Amino acid sequence: MRVLNLALVLATFLGEVVHAVPVKRSISQELYDDLSFYVEYAFSAYSTTCASPSGNTLVTEFSNNSTDTQGFIARDDTRQEIIVSLRGSTTLQDYLTDVDILLVPFKASGTSPPAGTLAHLGFLTAWNSVASTVLSIVQEQLDAHPGYALVTSGHSLGGSLASLAGITLQQNFPSNSVRMYTYGQVRTGNDVYAYWVNDKFGTNAYRSVHTTDIVPHLIPRAIGYRHHGIEYWENPDPASPENTTQCAADGEDPDCSDSVVFGDADAHLVYYGIKNSTPFCS
Ligand SMILES: *[C@@H]1O[C@H](CO)[C@@H](O)[C@H](O)[C@H]1NC(C)=O
Ligand SMILES: *[C@@H]1O[C@H](CO)[C@@H](O)[C@H](O)[C@H]1NC(C)=O
Ligand SMILES: *[C@@H]1O[C@H](CO)[C@@H](O)[C@H](O)[C@H]1NC(C)=O
Repeated sequence: MRVLNLALVLATFLGEVVHAVPVKRSISQELYDDLSFYVEYAFSAYSTTCASPSGNTLVTEFSNNSTDTQGFIARDDTRQEIIVSLRGSTTLQDYLTDVDILLVPFKASGTSPPAGTLAHLGFLTAWNSVASTVLSIVQEQLDAHPGYALVTSGHSLGGSLASLAGITLQQNFPSNSVRMYTYGQVRTGNDVYAYWVNDKFGTNAYRSVHTTDIVPHLIPRAIGYRHHGIEYWENPDPASPENTTQCAADGEDPDCSDSVVFGDADAHLVYYGIKNSTPFCS
């Protein structure tokens, strides 16, 4: 109990320090448009097939049936970027079991994580089951389109996979710009993992949380997990740039969604006013 209290005091103290970083109570229309554009890819990944993701070129769909992981790679020749969108279709519940929730050393092809980097066993296994396919196709695309930026996107546990994919792509393609957009992401790794992502991505990691969505809080910090930045808290409804807060850069801002004690499962299913079942495939 005393240890727990100490942890709470420490967390509060760190929270206060972090709080000194200015937060933006409303975001620009341009940033808002980006957050609501990249959620389209995340939601399109729920579609069994997506002929033209957000009107762009479908490079390939990929899957691993043994881990039940699906996604697609798209190319946007206007924005000059290659998008990796991930869906984790196994029920979230499966990933919240005692076994999968274990933190294990982060390992992925071509990466050099800092000592002590740990990630969620289930998510890491799911990502690694498609990683070699994704890396080789991204490499082919970059051979043909060398300057293109790389983007990952995903919702819910797909958000966690988009985080793991993002850092893996950043490590494998260090001279290309890499951005990640996650929506209702589950905590994915430990403190070292979160700080590693913060260090490598800075403002290029966009982690949206809708109002009282409970999913980002399901795996608690108390068992060693931590969110990376930057949280964009869409609160309250209705969605608008004015009602979206850019939270503290470290990832756990006590004044953003962490301030919500009782979460809501329905809030998980809508981001930026769009239902997660909506495909953007033409
Ligand atoms: C996974 O299963 C689907 C449906 O049975 C099949 O179309 C697809 O080719 C399989 N993917 C892999 C990588 O085996
Ligand atoms: C699919 O995932 C399983 C389990 O992680 C793995 O053993 C297998 O190699 C993966 N398949 C491919 C084609 O990567
Ligand atoms: C922000 O949310 C409040 C409360 O729901 C609402 O009254 C207001 O119209 C919203 N602002 C915008 C610009 O949508």
